[in-house]
Amino acid sequence: MLIVGNQKAYLKKEKIEEFVKYFKDKDVSSVVIIPSIPFINEFNKTNFLLGSQDVSINTDDNSTGEVTASQLKSLGVKYSLVGHSERREFFKEEKETLIIKINNLLEEDIIPIYCVGETKEEREKNKYKDKVKLQIEEVLNGITAKRENIVIAYEPVWSIGTGLIPKVEEIEEIMDSIKKIIKEKYKYNVKVLYGGSVNANNIEELSRVKDLDGYLIGKASTICEDFLKIINKS
Ligand code: PGA
Repeated sequence: MLIVGNQKAYLKKEKIEEFVKYFKDKDVSSVVIIPSIPFINEFNKTNFLLGSQDVSINTDDNSTGEVTASQLKSLGVKYSLVGHSERREFFKEEKETLIIKINNLLEEDIIPIYCVGETKEEREKNKYKDKVKLQIEEVLNGITAKRENIVIAYEPVWSIGTGLIPKVEEIEEIMDSIKKIIKEKYKYNVKVLYGGSVNANNIEELSRVKDLDGYLIGKASTICEDFLKIINKS
């Protein structure tokens, strides 16, 4: 199971230090922690795997204000999110940008966790499978090398931060269709994570989802006890 904690912009310096202290001696060597970029280095005091929430589209040193894939690599970053719905919505990131970001990461041997998922309206209109298929194909078609390193995170937009989660069978249905699309079209066995309101209370229910490869956890990954509980129950 791949457990990934996306801490977004929740924690400031003092809370990061508390979090690091709590996890310092815990065995979390197969868990990926994704703090805000300025705090990544602090997590070298733990044995978490390191991830980034974003990467620059630029690779050039003349990129004021940006963090390039090669800089992330030098920090020991192994994974990076791409295409999170908050980046798509607030920063208007579209396929062209996402393709460049994924290529930059793959070039530095950082594993992209490519996020896809439908809105509430698309779910209600029964368009969720088409939406996810489109998001996968429009980006993966633009990746030529090392494509098989890309992990997919299925995160329904209506579930992120709302406390709502799809039914176990609904997650299984979409996992299955993502795995099929990728196997048939891109010829590899993709790892698929579920994300959206995963917490210490619903982790047992979610663990019934067949063939799930892991979780992408937001808010609950910022609360030490809850995150540890999720890790231990996964
Ligand atoms: P959430 O966020 O767990 O707080 O819903 C998940 C995510 O946005 O990755």
